[in-house]
Amino acid sequence: MSQQKLHGVWSNSWIFVLAATGSAVGLGNIWKFPYMTGENGGGAFVLVYLFCIALIGLPVMMAEVLLGRRGRMSPVNSMKYLVEEGGLHGAWTSIGWMGVFAGLCIMSFYSVVAGWALNYVFTTGSGSFNGATADQVGTIWGGLLGDKLTLTFWHTVFSVMTCVVVALGVTRGLGAVARYMMPFLILALLVLLGYGFVEGNMTAGLKFLFNPDFSKLFFKYVQSDASGNVIVCAGDISNCERQLNYEPTLKALGHAFFTLSLGMGAIMAYGAYMPDHSNVARTVVTIGILDTVIALIAGMAIFAIVFANPSVSPSGGPGLMFQSLPIAFGNMPAGQVFGTLFFMLVTVAAWSSAVSLIEPGVAWLVESKNYSRALATTLLGGAAWFMGIFALLSFNALADWTPVYLLNKTPFDFLDFLTSQLMLPLGGLFIAIFVGWKMSKAIVASEMDAEGHPMFDIWLFVLKFVSPVLVAAVFVVAIYDTIAGFVSSL
Ligand code: PHE
Repeated sequence: MSQQKLHGVWSNSWIFVLAATGSAVGLGNIWKFPYMTGENGGGAFVLVYLFCIALIGLPVMMAEVLLGRRGRMSPVNSMKYLVEEGGLHGAWTSIGWMGVFAGLCIMSFYSVVAGWALNYVFTTGSGSFNGATADQVGTIWGGLLGDKLTLTFWHTVFSVMTCVVVALGVTRGLGAVARYMMPFLILALLVLLGYGFVEGNMTAGLKFLFNPDFSKLFFKYVQSDASGNVIVCAGDISNCERQLNYEPTLKALGHAFFTLSLGMGAIMAYGAYMPDHSNVARTVVTIGILDTVIALIAGMAIFAIVFANPSVSPSGGPGLMFQSLPIAFGNMPAGQVFGTLFFMLVTVAAWSSAVSLIEPGVAWLVESKNYSRALATTLLGGAAWFMGIFALLSFNALADWTPVYLLNKTPFDFLDFLTSQLMLPLGGLFIAIFVGWKMSKAIVASEMDAEGHPMFDIWLFVLKFVSPVLVAAVFVVAIYDTIAGFVSSL
């Protein structure tokens, strides 16, 4: 296959940084990271997550950028080109295909959550949170989750917003918007952090986030109740049995991929526009640090508010941000205006991430099938929108629908599990093996522009031996534990 070089190359590597940061910074940082930390025991989860970012996320991100820049096409066709260039087995192109599918699955529930943020722009703007207590905020939030029509409306608005940008092909243009949005987002989070210091319980928040309790991380304590059902012990664990608990680790690993937009081609698609002379490693580290700092600030701000309001539970799940932050907006000076702006910023952050979720599929349809951008976007965006309906019904009509073939999860939880904990880490594992073991070292070194540099050797070592082994190890334990649990239930 000839490399068609359909893409222009951006004149300036800052545009790559902006687009990739726009993709990475989104709901994953502000919405997902805090609630996952809350559900998985706090500090120990954060530590494993940081570990995964450093040892797996950043090295794999460099590899993914490199693939895109070498291939210079949509992820599917870049992979085809690289497979041919290296004389490798065609199965490696599944990295591109799986990414297209993973992107649509993520988009389906991402757009539902972004719809919540959009709705909150108006709820906050109308003053509904002014002076509200935690309970009043909880009632408004519960009302939204139960309202199928309103959820569908905002899910649709966000889907259309995203599709318009992708169809116009200004995907990277939105990256440039991120340039203005990002500083304001950070500023807004810092203001919330300040509120947390003054009005919240920052001590408890910081302790929760940064004081690891490893007993909760790798193990869970269970007990049989009177009727023989296995239940998780709360509080006193003296009569409980200790069992292996791989889930927080798998979730931290999956979230490292999710928050960096890794393992599904988004970063590869943007890498295709990166100029040859720009430094992959330095750029990736910059993006990784920015992404992590934003998540940590959001976490600190949210938990300071959560621990000052006993009726908001840190382990409350996906509603955590939507139940905690309005308390701050309702009770700070000018909170109505500030809160409205905040949810607008969150929406823009989600927007610049969402376009990168459907771009890989659209770019492939345009390149290979000669579809117009508008048609390709309508087809793929429409498919994601349709799946999203099931995601939003998971909070009301389908809340009890947890069929075995969705692994006893609601559609929302299943889509999240399938993508974050399975497809993205698997995509990342394949990328690490492909770049580390399959591509010629000379090509890899010339793309990294770093042959003979000691950092290059360290990176390649980590990519070959550390990142894939860690991902594989977590998978092996998870599969083993699932099978063992299944066998013992027979
Ligand atoms: N990284 C984005 C976020 O944190 C989500 C995302 C995942 C975007 C995968 C693109 C690809 O919100």
